[in-house]
Amino acid sequence: MTTKQGEKTISSAATGTGEEREQLFKLLAEAVREHMGANVDEEAVRRIAGEEIARRYAPQVLELRLPDGTAKTVEGAHAQLAELLGMIEEGHRNLMLVGPAGSGKTTLAKTTAHAMNLPFGFLSLSAGVTETHLLGRVLPQADGSWQYQKSLFVKIYEEGGVFLLDEIDAADANVMVAINAALANGVLANPISGTVHPRHKDTYIIAAANTWGRGADAQYAGRNALDASTLDRFVLSTLHVKYDTLLERMLAQASLPDAKAAELLEWLEEIRKAIDTNRLRRVASTRLLVNATAALKAGRSLADVKERYFIDWSKDERAKAGV
Ligand SMILES: Nc1ncnc2c1ncn2[C@@H]1O[C@H](COP(=O)(O)OP(=O)(O)OP(=O)(O)O)[C@@H](O)[C@H]1O
Ligand SMILES: [Mg+2]
Repeated sequence: MTTKQGEKTISSAATGTGEEREQLFKLLAEAVREHMGANVDEEAVRRIAGEEIARRYAPQVLELRLPDGTAKTVEGAHAQLAELLGMIEEGHRNLMLVGPAGSGKTTLAKTTAHAMNLPFGFLSLSAGVTETHLLGRVLPQADGSWQYQKSLFVKIYEEGGVFLLDEIDAADANVMVAINAALANGVLANPISGTVHPRHKDTYIIAAANTWGRGADAQYAGRNALDASTLDRFVLSTLHVKYDTLLERMLAQASLPDAKAAELLEWLEEIRKAIDTNRLRRVASTRLLVNATAALKAGRSLADVKERYFIDWSKDERAKAGV
């Protein structure tokens, strides 16, 4: 069962068709028979193996209670979705996600909308994004008049939904002023449309950032400090998003044979430990895990993946990481 062939059979049986499962059960029964003699209860092997497969490969399932009191099951979400929904249940409508690169913040905001059956919109507030992107614009019409065209942010603000202000710590000052105004009161005074938009009761604004809003740090250069009034909009509604190692395990195991997934996960853990212990300015993110999984699935070796990952690491960093 430790042959390459066996590994492949197991992994495809886990995610594959009934026929592939059937093959696996036969293989197992044969292996047990070889070791234990002829008296093998094939049905028992089938049951035990079936239970084991279901247990090991079950997608991560979260039993959630939505703010409106209803229950919902969500598969494959970041484990901290429950915490975020808990804050929403407390009554927060402005929420902030802070965490290292590639820890799942953007995905988490999207999943929140999905879990709550609400529309989702987002804007990445990197350099070059202006107030107009956020608040809408005035466009010339065929008859020579000018008409205001709503942005998705304004639409969700008025009609309800989840809107992600991504990379809020990269936003420029003018955009921050507009955001502050929108978050503070139940209305948005829009200088572009010249109107006041009331905020819908089911409008959830989620800000995401790599830093705590206190300016650039060694790891995340070029981030702006958010002013105290902005940060205060998120007091007690800021979630520190960490890498979800169970989710990562599930993502790797869903695409790779067990042994390969285990090897990759072990390496990821080691690298994170080395980064932490040596305070290296590096990240080993869920994005790394997802991309490495894709590379391995495409037939690359873990050695290839490592070579690409360490490509811009200095000698000193490599030594600290034990490369
Ligand atoms: N629940 C999930 N299911 C599947 N893949 C996920 C999930 N969460 C995160 N990922 C994977 O991890 C990658 C990083 O996630 P995401 O973009 O949400 O992180 P982030 O914290 O917003 O990163 P950044 O700080 O760089 O903006 C995604 O591209 C996706 O491939
Ligand atoms: Mg993101």
